[in-house]
Amino acid sequence: MKANKFLLAAVAAGALMLTACSGGGTGDSGDSGSGDGGLIGVAMPTKSSERWIADGDAVKAALEAEGYSVDLQYAEDDIPTQVSQIENMITKGAEALIVASIDGTTLSEVLQTAADADIPVIAYDRLIKGTENVDYYATFDNFLVGQQQAWTVLNGLGLTDLEGNPTDGAPEGPFNIELFAGSLDDNNAFFFFNGAMDVLEPYIEDGTLVVKSGQTDIEQAATLRWDGETAQSRMEDLLTANYSDGTQVNAVLSPYDGISRGIISALTDAGYTVGDEWPIISGQDAEVDSVKAILSGEQYATIFKDTRELAKVAAGMAVALLNGEEPEVNDTETYDNDVKVVPSYLLAPVPVIKDNVESALVDTGYWTKEDLGL
Ligand code: GAL
Repeated sequence: MKANKFLLAAVAAGALMLTACSGGGTGDSGDSGSGDGGLIGVAMPTKSSERWIADGDAVKAALEAEGYSVDLQYAEDDIPTQVSQIENMITKGAEALIVASIDGTTLSEVLQTAADADIPVIAYDRLIKGTENVDYYATFDNFLVGQQQAWTVLNGLGLTDLEGNPTDGAPEGPFNIELFAGSLDDNNAFFFFNGAMDVLEPYIEDGTLVVKSGQTDIEQAATLRWDGETAQSRMEDLLTANYSDGTQVNAVLSPYDGISRGIISALTDAGYTVGDEWPIISGQDAEVDSVKAILSGEQYATIFKDTRELAKVAAGMAVALLNGEEPEVNDTETYDNDVKVVPSYLLAPVPVIKDNVESALVDTGYWTKEDLGL
């Protein structure tokens, strides 16, 4: 019940944001838009994760609906490739750039070239750091994502609801937990981990949760490029070093579905089977294989970030700027990129467990029943 209430609130908040955004020129009016057919460059990090493919497609569609043409590029997580793709966009005469960076600190030089040509830049989902030449940032409330990841873990252990409120008659534990973080060159990794640790630390301090490996720093927990195989081999090492004495790991904090899948492989290889002893595992992005893993009980939860809404916000920002309007923002304090605070629009993330897969992901049209094998 509580989970459903929360979801309703989140959906209502999302609807509000949608209404709020449609003022920024992103409306679904279906007309050919105000664009002059000019080019907008869209740089995405990699096709190896399906979320970025969905993001790229959605941004392209939103801009084309406004009458722009789009140069959409993927860099396969290779930094020099992303830099040269952006250089090419500038050379081709792009009027604006929307960039989901691989490493948020490596774009200063190419973005100076963009600024010299008066090309506005929108950071997409990941903050671009160390440059004044990033104008706006479209993302989700990333600290809340981290909190929600921790709440889903606590919920799976029977300790709280999905908003972190303690459950009556909760088990005392102790529960063994291991912690994973994302890529340290992605600012989001810090927001997710800090949000999660804000929730988990009191439980670690009072002994309800035990990190047997002792690896509680983000540097120890990090996963370069969010890579599933890297996470799998760290999980194997953690199991060998800390759980060979017959003790079980009861929960794993994971910041992203691809990392969760690596963790699941390590657990399966180590002889864990889905059922009573199978740990509670979090995630993020509602990737189709991971939603299936939630339905089959391998993964407990994911965090759904509706890429369609993010795409609308980012595209709307670019269109507003090109029309000489000010894009709508709802946060002007949180995202300091070491040179300036980048004005941001934060969308609301939604935690998903087995109970609300249908209402959060199918009823909203994000996945079909067929996609999920339902
Ligand atoms: C982050 C993003 C997450 C996840 C991760 C790995 O920047 O916010 O949703 O996609 O990258 O791709």
